[in-house]
Amino acid sequence: MIDRHVLPDSFGRVMRDLRVSLTDRCNFRCLYCLPETEEAANFYRGKFDAVNNPKPRKLALPAAKPRSEILSYEEIERFVRIAVTLGIDKIRLTGGEPLLRQNVESLVQKLRRIPGLTDLAMTSNALLFPKKGRALKEAGLNRISFSMDSLDPMNFKKITGRDGLAEVLESIQLARELELTPLKVNAVIIRGINDHEIEDLAQFAQREQLSFRFIEFMPLDSSRTWLKEIVVPGREILDRLKKRFDLKPVLSSNPSETARRWRFNQGSGEIGIIAPVTEPFCGHCNRLRLTADGKIRTCLFSLHEHDIKTPMRNGASDEVIAEMLRGIVLQKESRHHIGEPEFVQPGRTMSCIGG
Ligand code: 5AD
Ligand code: SF4
Repeated sequence: MIDRHVLPDSFGRVMRDLRVSLTDRCNFRCLYCLPETEEAANFYRGKFDAVNNPKPRKLALPAAKPRSEILSYEEIERFVRIAVTLGIDKIRLTGGEPLLRQNVESLVQKLRRIPGLTDLAMTSNALLFPKKGRALKEAGLNRISFSMDSLDPMNFKKITGRDGLAEVLESIQLARELELTPLKVNAVIIRGINDHEIEDLAQFAQREQLSFRFIEFMPLDSSRTWLKEIVVPGREILDRLKKRFDLKPVLSSNPSETARRWRFNQGSGEIGIIAPVTEPFCGHCNRLRLTADGKIRTCLFSLHEHDIKTPMRNGASDEVIAEMLRGIVLQKESRHHIGEPEFVQPGRTMSCIGG
């Protein structure tokens, strides 16, 4: 008998996790995502030109979608409700920068009331969190992840295009005070940019008792700067950290977890390594993504998106949308092909897809 309450794909994976991008706009211009200047788009030049002598990268700032194309909170709530009846139990709100959406706490409040949704999280660059944190907590947000790629204000600005380190540090304290825990902080590590800070970032995680995630650079940037030579392999990050810290592996019962984790011998801090490029974890992926303009992506690297907004706006019933979603999940890719000759970078960047 077919179980109508779960979302299996054609490789035996069952979807549990939906990432909802609330906007394709962002108030940062990270060089690994949406570089704003020619210099940022070409940050690797001079260091790795000799490897395969790529041409200078052109700036390609994607235009933000007009408001009418972006899903309303009511549309997002409806879709999430349908997905939850099909077994999705974890929602992560992302962007772009989700805190740029007006009154985002009202969406959190609506989603919080959906029976069967056990985990409601958000990924944010933290810039607006000092203003929004309390309202988000009161609305029922469970957890938050911030991005912090550097502890050096100059390097932070070089990477993100903005002065914002003070706000990130303030946000970390506030999220802790509000018990939005476990509090995660992500850093994308890029050779020649912030790999010299790996140990300092881990030390910060230990001192502040954080879950700190080191992420390999993936080819999802608007200027298509990605080169495998500037990816710092997770293994290399771990070897360096093991030399400096006494790390104990954290055994996880959740095979879909993207991070391999280690805790520090002292305190409650831990580090996680997310290595989608050198150690892909596609075999256990249970994630789906909904873009701000209402497209389902079954993989970060999908070359095809499935429009769910048009049928929703044309009056399709919940049952029809649920059936569409089941059909879409059956088309989920088995894995990504980063680093292989046939790899094609998707047209949309992380800022549109949502991390
Ligand atoms: N590679 C790896 N991680 C990325 N992120 C954004 N772009 C990339 C990329 N090209 C990260 C952000 C954030 C999360 C949503 O995804 O730093 O922490
Ligand atoms: Fe899942 Fe695609 Fe990421 Fe692989 S690349 S883990 S299939 S989302």
